[in-house]
Amino acid sequence: MQPIILAIESSCDETSASVISNGKVLNNIIASQAVHQKYGGVVPELASRAHQQNIVSVIEEAIQLAGVSKTQLDAIAFTRGPGLIGSLLVGVAFAKGMALALDLPLIEVNHMQAHVLAHFISENGKEKRKPSFPFLCLTVSGGHTQIVLVRDYLDMEIVGQTQDDAVGEAFDKAAKIMNLPYPGGPLIDKYAKLGNPDKFRFSETVMPNLDFSFSGIKTNFLYFLRNEVKKNPDFIADNLHDICASLQKHLVNMLLTRVIQASERFKIKEVAIAGGVSANSGLRDGLQILGNKKGWNVYIPEFQYCTDNAAMIAMVAHFKYLKGEFCPLDTVPLARMPL
Ligand code: KG4
Ligand code: ZN
Repeated sequence: MQPIILAIESSCDETSASVISNGKVLNNIIASQAVHQKYGGVVPELASRAHQQNIVSVIEEAIQLAGVSKTQLDAIAFTRGPGLIGSLLVGVAFAKGMALALDLPLIEVNHMQAHVLAHFISENGKEKRKPSFPFLCLTVSGGHTQIVLVRDYLDMEIVGQTQDDAVGEAFDKAAKIMNLPYPGGPLIDKYAKLGNPDKFRFSETVMPNLDFSFSGIKTNFLYFLRNEVKKNPDFIADNLHDICASLQKHLVNMLLTRVIQASERFKIKEVAIAGGVSANSGLRDGLQILGNKKGWNVYIPEFQYCTDNAAMIAMVAHFKYLKGEFCPLDTVPLARMPL
């Protein structure tokens, strides 16, 4: 069986399409939405409209670049959830339309499962190191912070997660407090490289088991800055690099502390990171250093597969196709979707 599958991702603010042939990703086309920047966050209504505008050209480009005709496709895959319902609806409706028109089976994909399977993408057949089962994956994005125990491609379980904000949200909200543009995570990362990570300290809410809480840090950070700005109105500008470096160190430490505990609890030394925040250099370097110290095999995704993309959706779809896991045409998107 050498399936050729078209995969569509539209869960948040990236419209993306990818064609996978016999498990090899042929391309990964992404249209990002700049429209949200001036609002300081993703505006769901605008995201849905931008998906409507972008989806046809993104899909056409993926199919054309793959050098296949629509009639050679064996299935259409789409992100069913979790995500913004209006955004998901655009991808789901388009996938159904194509499946109906071409008389092809449909494959629904869980976006969070896809972030984990991004580690198995080998684009155009390029070989790369892949985690072996079972492994632990810290999935960190703008909407999620989870430690996932991955037993097999399609068999995974959340063993720890945030009880409130996601770590990406903490990065973005802290950036907003400093008047940095959205999304602030990458900017904090950039400035952090130039600063002293030990200059400022922040408090932490410690949750039981392997869970996280990131809502407290936001308030703590806001009060800290208000207090300092009272003494020196230019405090943020004068200390931007040190503030970013200290905050990033704090957030990364919160994440890695839990990863150490999970590794000990499950006696697993295969450790991966995934999701938008896995693009963070502090987290990437921190995990690498920790891995060397602990004797772990560490897996860090390529930048293009950290943030939302359809190649990772295609990867899940490939394994589902092999197992014959298809879904009916009346499948609806889910804003919340268990792993
Ligand atoms: O996975 P993703 O593209 O979308 C969601 O499913 O949320 O993740 C987006 C999140 C945003 O919060 C963004 O600020 C964060 O990932 N992010 C980063 C970096 N690059 C993206 N956070 C910190 N450092 C980065 N380099
Ligand atoms: Zn995502």
